[in-house]
Amino acid sequence: MAKLAVWLPVLTTGALGVAIGLRKLDSPLSDDREKKLRKLLDRYREQLLPNAERLAELEKEFQAQLRAGLAKSVAVDGKHMMMLPTFVTRLPDGTETGECFALDLGGTNFRVMYVRLGAGKGEVAECDVEEVTLPQEVYTGPGDKLFDFLASTLKNFIDRHTATRAAETAAATGAHEAALPDPVVGFCFSFAVEQSGIASGKLLEWTKNFTCPGVVGNDPVALLSAALQRAGRPCRVAALLNDTVGVLAAQRYLDSDTEVGVILGTGTNACYVEKLSALSKWRAPAGSGASGRTAVNSEWGAFFSPALPRCLEDLAVDAASFNPGKYLFEKLLAGMHLGEIARRMLLTIAREVPGLFVASPKDAEAAAHAAASTEPGPVPPPKPLPSKLLTPGSLPTASLAAIAEDGSWQLLATRGRLSRELGCHWPSKRAADVAKEVCTLVARRSAVLAAMALLAMLRHTGWAAEQPPRPVTIAFDGGVYEKFGAYRKMIQDATCVLEQLPKFPPCPVPTLLLAHLLLATTTPLLPQDALAEQLGDQAAELAPLIRHTLSHDGSALGAAVLAAAAVAEADAPHPSALDAAAALAGAAKAMAAAAAAPAAAAAAKAMAAAQAAMAHVPAAVQGHGHGPAPAPSAPATGPSGLPSYPSVPK
Ligand code: GLC
Repeated sequence: MAKLAVWLPVLTTGALGVAIGLRKLDSPLSDDREKKLRKLLDRYREQLLPNAERLAELEKEFQAQLRAGLAKSVAVDGKHMMMLPTFVTRLPDGTETGECFALDLGGTNFRVMYVRLGAGKGEVAECDVEEVTLPQEVYTGPGDKLFDFLASTLKNFIDRHTATRAAETAAATGAHEAALPDPVVGFCFSFAVEQSGIASGKLLEWTKNFTCPGVVGNDPVALLSAALQRAGRPCRVAALLNDTVGVLAAQRYLDSDTEVGVILGTGTNACYVEKLSALSKWRAPAGSGASGRTAVNSEWGAFFSPALPRCLEDLAVDAASFNPGKYLFEKLLAGMHLGEIARRMLLTIAREVPGLFVASPKDAEAAAHAAASTEPGPVPPPKPLPSKLLTPGSLPTASLAAIAEDGSWQLLATRGRLSRELGCHWPSKRAADVAKEVCTLVARRSAVLAAMALLAMLRHTGWAAEQPPRPVTIAFDGGVYEKFGAYRKMIQDATCVLEQLPKFPPCPVPTLLLAHLLLATTTPLLPQDALAEQLGDQAAELAPLIRHTLSHDGSALGAAVLAAAAVAEADAPHPSALDAAAALAGAAKAMAAAAAAPAAAAAAKAMAAAQAAMAHVPAAVQGHGHGPAPAPSAPATGPSGLPSYPSVPK
């Protein structure tokens, strides 16, 4: 009791002090500065959040670029979606088994993974992941060094996993050292690659601040295999894939409704399942197109349209990037840029509304010192600004996320961040409000544009018009989506679209679909009745059909699954290949008989037999994927004058 009597006045005085302090900090801005601030924020809002017409225009242009990229190769200029064939024509269905390693180079962090796929459908029996950060000198240094770094990390990881099994096998066989086959690796290489096979291709261009010379134009699998040799751990790199394809494959292994794989992380991109006939610039390798569908890597980060909602700060971020003028869609959506855009916007506001973000006494002193050492000009020097606010990169996207979802009392958490990270001196509640509004705006634009692009893709595939309607799953991975709950809600939650609905022209189909895409969640956030009321019957019918799913570590898991599938397919005696071999051998024998037959009648008979035999040769074996096998008109003759025959597939 006595203790309480001592502490009570202290606590009360302390609380009063804090309250008075906060109140003093929160003294409102003068009317004209508040007006200017509001105007600035409204302008940003208008510039960053596209209205209905703009969204419809963007969707149209997105679809036009998408179609153009499917029809023919597009310039690698960072301004067009490349629509890259992935050589994945058979997506996992959950029956894949076996064990595999994966190397997942997505950004400045990469992962190595061990996976054992169980016998049960979609069963991941064992999984172990390790994440490693790439030092900057590695992702900007010589290409060989990058691959040596990847190879030595993978080698150590594999050695750890195989040591036990090697010992077990040795014990079982009694051999001193058990020779295990080369480990199978799926390589998820998250950059634009023009593939020439399921495990080969060439890098078209670097993104995400990677600049290693000696890699563009070369095959990442060859570079990795050589580095693994140097490291003394040769591996069988059985699949090369983009991270979006990994996410699609991993989710598809679990859920066969998955049609789209999306990455919203350091970079952004999406791939989707397309009809082979629509990807007219590409022919599936012989014998591989049975499903009639394939995964296409859109490289949507490179999409550009003058209708993209951009502000001056976006232009500045682009100009300061390592690839100005390229991957402009990515620069509005991806984690690598969101924090920096917001920092630049806050800096503009700080300049225009003096006194909102106050410099610390130390910064103010440094500024005064600098001003004193220069000739005084006709205009007085501007008020000093917090030095960290002036520093590029000082607001990481993780902080943008924390500020956007700050629910702390009086936004004290944001105020702490503004002080620690941007060097603001005793930031006011108003300053924190402004920071929250700016961070939310930047995140919301990203979410709305991602939703627009997903909608454009789904609509292009004709899914929305299918009868009867069928469910579709969109699989997401990447730090922005995974770690930024408010962002996920922005894609899922109705509010970001409903807010704009009154501005939309009456009942445009794209709007309804965009709305239902944004509204769709595995567990809808709005009651179904509210959806129906806002969007009409169509959306109410379609919205529950779209599932947004987080595919955690999906890209690495997908790499492992695809590698396991590729190995199984390559190693298994393929029934159609065996049939083809037998049929070709039969045809060859018959044609040889025709060529050797002395009399015309016998030759004609033998030729008919050859034609009949040839009809059994699968079309795929003849090197031109589709359509029935043409019957031979007459045996071609080789240099010796004897007939030459198609070679029997191995
Ligand atoms: C970049 C890459 C792309 C990748 C994406 C997400 O946009 O070019 O291939 O999928 O980042 O990691």
